Amino acid sequence: MAELLKGWQRTHYCAEPDSEQVGKEVLLMGWAATWRNLGALIFIGLRDRTGVMQLVFDSGVLTPEQFQKAEDIRTEYVLAIKGILQERTPEMVNPNMKTGKYEVIVKDFKILSTSQTPPIYIKDDLDAAEQLRLKHRYLDLRRPVMQNIFALRHKIAMLARNFFAENGFLEIETPMLTKSTPEGARDYLVPSRVHKGKFYALPQSPQLFKQLLMVSGFDRYMQLARCFRDEDLRADRQPEFTQIDLEMSFVDENDIIALNEGFIKRLFKETLDIDIELPIKRIPYNEAMERYGSDKPDTRFGLELKNISDIVESCGFGVFTNAIANGGSVRGIKVENGVAAFSRKAIDELTEFVKIYGAKGLAWMSLKPEGIQCAFAKFLTEEQINAIIKRLDANTGDLLLFVADKDETVFAALGALRVEIAKRLNLIDENVYDILWVTDFPLLEWDDEQGRFVARHHPFTSPKDEDLELLETDPGRVRAKAYDIVINGYEAGGGSIRIHSQELQERMFKVLGFTEEQAWAQFGFLLEAFKYGTPPHGGIAYGLDRLVMLIAKTNNIRDVIAFPKVQTAACLMTKAPSNVEKKQLDELGIAVIVDEKEDDDV
Ligand code: AMO
Ligand code: AMP
Repeated sequence: MAELLKGWQRTHYCAEPDSEQVGKEVLLMGWAATWRNLGALIFIGLRDRTGVMQLVFDSGVLTPEQFQKAEDIRTEYVLAIKGILQERTPEMVNPNMKTGKYEVIVKDFKILSTSQTPPIYIKDDLDAAEQLRLKHRYLDLRRPVMQNIFALRHKIAMLARNFFAENGFLEIETPMLTKSTPEGARDYLVPSRVHKGKFYALPQSPQLFKQLLMVSGFDRYMQLARCFRDEDLRADRQPEFTQIDLEMSFVDENDIIALNEGFIKRLFKETLDIDIELPIKRIPYNEAMERYGSDKPDTRFGLELKNISDIVESCGFGVFTNAIANGGSVRGIKVENGVAAFSRKAIDELTEFVKIYGAKGLAWMSLKPEGIQCAFAKFLTEEQINAIIKRLDANTGDLLLFVADKDETVFAALGALRVEIAKRLNLIDENVYDILWVTDFPLLEWDDEQGRFVARHHPFTSPKDEDLELLETDPGRVRAKAYDIVINGYEAGGGSIRIHSQELQERMFKVLGFTEEQAWAQFGFLLEAFKYGTPPHGGIAYGLDRLVMLIAKTNNIRDVIAFPKVQTAACLMTKAPSNVEKKQLDELGIAVIVDEKEDDDV
């Protein structure tokens, strides 16, 4: 390799040369992105991670042998070129290119590597199937949009490190091979060879380690931490992802929120040049649910939920009255001028849409100029109809949509429906960033399947002091010292003040249904640590991938992870997960009982 590049040292990246360089020699290296042969002239766009520079191979400048060699160049060949930068003639200027005013007259060049025709085009407006892109991810990543995303990701990671370092945080690494603990998503397990039959778990987050670092007195910790969760994947979820994770001692919720608002402000200023106004608004969980049906509301548009249960509880429409009698509610949203925007067929589609979220149907009232059209109007008095119209602040031309069910279902269905309608009606300005804190989360939620309370955030989150007395008597009503940061309807981060007393932590485990023995067997190391002087502490973790996604304006988390996994948690490029040799399993004392597939394909 030394020989190949001897005397060939790059002077500039492709998009770097500017007017200063005109008339001077540059040495560039990169990939042939475009290629045009005009007979006596060959134009090649040379690409590297900074951009593209137009090269001119001129038969009048190069020797016949060199020109002949230039005719062999095809797209994605890797070239080193020496040449003179010159300004393009005015009619050749390309205002859409950073280097559109310049070109390089090639004097000498080397083909460093040839390329077969790539299976995908290396260009931004690619319409290749994502499967193919992921199979050849190294080529997909060569595309300028992808190169920009990863430069942005790097910038955001550096910004986080710098911001928190400037504020006294130490970056400390925590283990990847750790202990499996219940109370979260499903763990990824790693078998131990030395301790046959035992398993490590990959961390779902550094939660307990960062708390123990506070016990150790590090006071302010941060880490760009890789986390692993074996859960169902969605557009904003990957089985391994990265958190900007931090923890602080001697602070309350407001201290953590204030510091993090400084981070968010800097982040948006330095990436998008957007000035975020501080303080960031806060919405208590209950209000977020009542108004938006979601604990991560997108408040860039209205379409707020309104409860009409009190108006219809004794009407004759069974769908409504039964839901209320069973402890549920009837809520609706108003779509302004929705009569014109949604045909019967479109309403049927919305009905199918809410069914995904468990709703049994969608009741509607159409305020047409010629009168109200509504299937259930016959069950209501005129006063009731008027009261509904008033409650939803509706006018002629508006469409009202209602769901009746248990609250959880009503919120899920209408929360998703308002977003769907906003998308369909183009009510969302993609250039606006709507940021808010959701606070006052319930500490616990009832899990029907397990028949017990589970922690909403995690079992180490502190209850609010004023709700402590309800912990055993009315656990469902206890609020937590927890907060989430929500950006454009995505949960970008979440954290809490932690329990720092052994006694309270033990009470919490008990409420979660652990016996004392079980709590000590699972979390003994934490309970033990709390005996030796634990400062009050709390923290937060952001999903780095989600922040990058939001700032890069993509709605697919795979776009911001260099080598992501697909829906089935498989990597299409390496074909992980795969079968392993029997010898490897024997060493681990593991027998596979499912049928081994013939091939490794996942
Ligand atoms: P939590 O579980 O809320 O909190 O996670 C923090 C943030 O991490 C991101 N995130 C994910 N991103 C991509 N794919 C996933 N599968 C995924 N799961 C979570 C989200 C989320 O807001 N230890 C606590 C934090 C704390 O209390 O300090 C924790 O992990 O953006
Ligand atoms: P049905 O009585 O099932 O024929 O439903 C009559 C109308 O009420 C239809 O438009 C349904 O979509 C709607 N509907 C049914 N169940 C619900 C529900 N739980 N909430 C809101 N509307 C519903």
